[in-house]
Amino acid sequence: MPSHQTVIILDFGGQYSQLIARRVRECGVYCELLPCTADLNQIQARRPIGIILTGGPHSVYEANAPRIAPEILSWGVPVLGICYGCQLMAFLLNARVNPAADASAREYGKTITRFERNNLLFQNLPESGITWMSHGDYIETIPEGFEIIARSDTCPAAAICDQTRNLYGVQFHPEVNHTEHGNDILRDFLFHICGASGDWSMSDYKSVKIRELRETIGDGKVLLALSGGVDSAVAAALLAEAVGEQLTCVFVDHGLLRMNEGEEVEQAFQKWNIHFRRVNARRRFLMWLEGVTDPEEKRKIIGKQFIRVFEEESKRLGSMDFLAQGTIYPDVIESGAGLGNAAVIKSHHNVGGLPDVIDFREILEPLRMLFKDEVRVLGRELGLPENIVNRQPFPGPGLAIRVIGKVTKRKLDILRLADAIFREELEKNHVDASQYFAVLTNLRSVGVMGDGRTYDYAIALRAVSTSDFMTADWVRIPYHVLERVSARIVNEVPNVNRVLYDITSKPPATIEYE
Ligand code: XMP
Repeated sequence: MPSHQTVIILDFGGQYSQLIARRVRECGVYCELLPCTADLNQIQARRPIGIILTGGPHSVYEANAPRIAPEILSWGVPVLGICYGCQLMAFLLNARVNPAADASAREYGKTITRFERNNLLFQNLPESGITWMSHGDYIETIPEGFEIIARSDTCPAAAICDQTRNLYGVQFHPEVNHTEHGNDILRDFLFHICGASGDWSMSDYKSVKIRELRETIGDGKVLLALSGGVDSAVAAALLAEAVGEQLTCVFVDHGLLRMNEGEEVEQAFQKWNIHFRRVNARRRFLMWLEGVTDPEEKRKIIGKQFIRVFEEESKRLGSMDFLAQGTIYPDVIESGAGLGNAAVIKSHHNVGGLPDVIDFREILEPLRMLFKDEVRVLGRELGLPENIVNRQPFPGPGLAIRVIGKVTKRKLDILRLADAIFREELEKNHVDASQYFAVLTNLRSVGVMGDGRTYDYAIALRAVSTSDFMTADWVRIPYHVLERVSARIVNEVPNVNRVLYDITSKPPATIEYE
């Protein structure tokens, strides 16, 4: 039995299932996401204080539509059905659920919903608000004992409940940001209907994961490819805590890292008694990149060489049982593998593209259910330093795609120094930006230094603010900061005589230059 109050989320294959789990965790309530086919004994063994039925792509009338045993609804445990979960609950209690007769009755996207507030679920809500709907079926008649507690223009039963039996259903998705007050609804379900006390934290996640990893790994050996990014670093720290010297971390130093990056990563792992291999493959990468100017070709070369180095190391170390990766939930979504597909792992998508076939008994992905900001919280719990935990995104191909055109050691050294100055000044001046870096352009121009003519490189500075990195705006850095950065770069970095600030948003530009 878990040591915390537990909410069980039964997954019907909805695209937001993990998001529900995340929202519950944010409320400080422990939850487990189980497939909707989970055995009843398995669910009961967890002694859940509440059950959430997720959305899903099915219609309750489909021949193979996923169902749950109706008796779950009479356990007396509060249930919240969301979208398909709501329709299924109504259907199992003999209500009529129908496919929308015409397109106008289907609801996708933002909808104004009116709430009844004389019930525990909506007690803290205004009279109406925007909810995010995504359903083709609708509840035509409600089950006996139920009442309608929310309505929209196209959905007469946008939410239903039977307060006596603690059964609640919403057609919309309270877990998505587009639903106003969605978090209030989930909080009221957890704290006022299920009686949750909020007795869980990320530190508990850490202990549970460490225990699980120890059980799975036994006395086996684990290999992890460290990229220097936050995800693989946190996975490594978790494994280091769990199995210590059974873990070997391979950090491929391709020479395309930022100033002091390799040392910072190495230092962060010194406190654990693990095997740490920093493979110096700088010459090899430079050799393969020699004369290459096409960005895509650069990326392919780097990805391939990364794999080769890793394979060689893996062979050299021999007889490793587990390959560990820092895959996080957005990676899982992007690779199309949802819950219950734990075996169908795209093992090669996380760290620079690991090979399809490596001889390991099993793949470990301990962060698979976490979102990026949760990974950062866990990293802090594990004692990783802020410079690792708070790392901005850094592309796998590293500085090679920030040196426009041919990549040489000289150019990389110039860029590394200019980039370090820019980052240092922005941090010192507390400039708020999501990602910031320098780029070595392929532009050389005439300048004058002392009494002499120069013909040197131009450095471009890029700083953007964004939440999802899909669109981004350029940051309005104060002039005095730009002035200082420019002065320092031209004075301290050899072969640079011009500094440009990029004032293009994404789109039309991208964040990186190549
Ligand atoms: P773009 O340049 O497409 O970048 O606007 C969006 C975000 O993705 C990062 N990026 C990469 N990350 N491997 C990565 O791991 C890559 O090849 C790569 N290319 C771009 C970029 O730094 C930005 O945060």
